Amino acid sequence: MLKDKTIVLGITGSIAAYKMANVASLLKKLHCDVHVIMTENSTNFINPITFETLTNNKCLIDTFDRNFQYNVEHVSLAKKADLMLIAPASANIIAKLANGLADDMLTTTALACTCKKIIAPAMNTNMFQNEIVQSNIKRLENYGFIIIPPVTGMLACGDIGTGKMQSEDVIIDYILSEIAYEKDMQGLKVLITAGPTQEAIDPVRFITNHSSGKMGYALAKIAMLRGADVTLVSGKTCLKAPARVKVVDVISAEDMYNAVIERLDEQDIVIKAAAVADYCPVSVSTEKIKKSDSDANIKLKRTPDILKKIGEIRRDNQYICGFSMETQNLIENSRTKLFKKKIDMIVANSLKEPGAGFNTDTNVVTIITEDKEIPLQLMSKDIVAEQILTAILVERELKNRKILI
Ligand code: PMT
Repeated sequence: MLKDKTIVLGITGSIAAYKMANVASLLKKLHCDVHVIMTENSTNFINPITFETLTNNKCLIDTFDRNFQYNVEHVSLAKKADLMLIAPASANIIAKLANGLADDMLTTTALACTCKKIIAPAMNTNMFQNEIVQSNIKRLENYGFIIIPPVTGMLACGDIGTGKMQSEDVIIDYILSEIAYEKDMQGLKVLITAGPTQEAIDPVRFITNHSSGKMGYALAKIAMLRGADVTLVSGKTCLKAPARVKVVDVISAEDMYNAVIERLDEQDIVIKAAAVADYCPVSVSTEKIKKSDSDANIKLKRTPDILKKIGEIRRDNQYICGFSMETQNLIENSRTKLFKKKIDMIVANSLKEPGAGFNTDTNVVTIITEDKEIPLQLMSKDIVAEQILTAILVERELKNRKILI
């Protein structure tokens, strides 16, 4: 994804500097050339040798270091950079950059860089909320810097508040979203559902299924990386939401129905990867149902069929893609769902296929439309997501042309 890309990592004095070793390592695994520039202060938190070992490049600290590879190192590095990330970014570096100061290797390189620049602030809450810091951040945003907002949590000083640098995977998502993908979904609003629903029996028990949410989250991440404005309606999962995606948490099929229908009108594309319970208990006991020595019966009723409802009330120019999970007659049964639910595409996966379906990192799917069947081999859910989104863009374009004729 980042093959042949050069990334400059700027590291400043904050305890979060330790996380950057992981970021550097993840970037190397994505095949990019990583160059690290550290401020003098940051070397108190992590040793430059860590980065030199991870990146195979000399870690730059002092502008006047004579042991350099090029004549004017900060300019040559700035010229070849595809992206510069300054993380953790202290209040000090933010102030310097906002005012165009250039008194060390990091600030001179940042000024010389014409590529995209991302900043991930990390500091104590009061410092972060200080008006001066906030106005410097605004200033950087106005100059085109992309800001990764810090999160709320336990800070190094022991306070709980906003100022904690985002996690390594969120930082990587930001980098990927800026330079790894063509922005062929820019301007499109996409709603994706993911995960299982839980149908309560009583305050203790519920009916659910094995969906982990991995397929839906992969779709949300890749759509976001391709520039779409993504809303992810998610049942309960253990997954971390991708960066830059709006997440709506739901529990039951009815919650998911309400969340999707409420947002349907504004969407260009809807993808329903969630495993929605088809039945829920007719009544939910408010107290824990006591066990007895005899068998128990739970009377079930149908949940609302969200996809079918979407098919009934959708606009013509909205593209609707469902998923279909089967254990037999995969293609035939999935095709029946495509027509019954009046949708444009259905992605069929079989629980009988090794590596496919629930809770795996891979899937084996067939993309089905009215006149096409595209079988895909076993591949990671990220790559499946890429293929599905590409197929949706192609088919949507064909459909929109037909509408115009
Ligand atoms: O989450 P993972 O562990 O990664 O697993 C991925 C997955 C197996 C859940 C995913 O690939 C998948 O197949 N999702 C759909 C599962 C399913 O519910 O299939 P279905 O054939 O029962 O439903 C057909 C379609 O109708 C689905 O798009 C479903 O979201 C939708 N539906 C079903 C019932 C209901 N009441 N409302 C719905 O909208």
